[in-house]
Amino acid sequence: MGLTPTTVEKTGLLQTKQLYEYILKTSVYPREPELLKEIRDLSSTHPRSFMVTSPDAGQFMALILKLINAKKTIEIGVFTGYSLLLTALTIPDDGKNHESFDFAFVDADKNNYINYHENLLKLVKPGGIIMYDNTFWGGTVAMDDEFVPPYRLEMRVHVIELNRNLAADNRVEISQLPLGDGLTMCRRL
Ligand SMILES: C[S@@+](CC[C@H](N)C(=O)[O-])C[C@H]1O[C@@H](n2cnc3c(N)ncnc32)[C@H](O)[C@@H]1O
Repeated sequence: MGLTPTTVEKTGLLQTKQLYEYILKTSVYPREPELLKEIRDLSSTHPRSFMVTSPDAGQFMALILKLINAKKTIEIGVFTGYSLLLTALTIPDDGKNHESFDFAFVDADKNNYINYHENLLKLVKPGGIIMYDNTFWGGTVAMDDEFVPPYRLEMRVHVIELNRNLAADNRVEISQLPLGDGLTMCRRL
């Protein structure tokens, strides 16, 4: 089956919706804290529920937060609070949300990601992590223009520019992960 815009929107990089649901049901939902599940359920009735960070991307974020023993974190772009609560539940009780940061999560206005990046490089300590959500922009970053849904067109330009800039930025190490709608992880050098 070819990847049409519709299938990409529903499955990310995965080939089928069933495979994505398998991952969620097998590896993600059984380990999701109850409070997060509640937020996800409440958010699902919101007309913009698509904005909530994907639980598979969230699970990966939590793993990274633990791996780097993050205590000081910052989030740019809060919606119903799924990713923010996930962070708060993951970092230790003496964790903080200010000062020189171990970890930053950016999930806001895509046309400003490049500005956020410059500022976060000053705020996140060397060895710290910056994560950018939606770096596939519904799969449209790799689509021919003719297949891109009109509502994706404007921000797509900025996401493509961000991806290009991050790839060329020697101040960070990066990995662009096929989680949720694309999650790019940067480690500040
Ligand atoms: C995709 S949602 C974030 C979802 C969040 N990660 C979650 O799991 O609930 C993006 C949010 O960023 C907010 N936003 C957009 N532009 C912003 C800006 N310039 N500054 C702060 N927040 C912004 C929007 O209002 C929206 O609530």
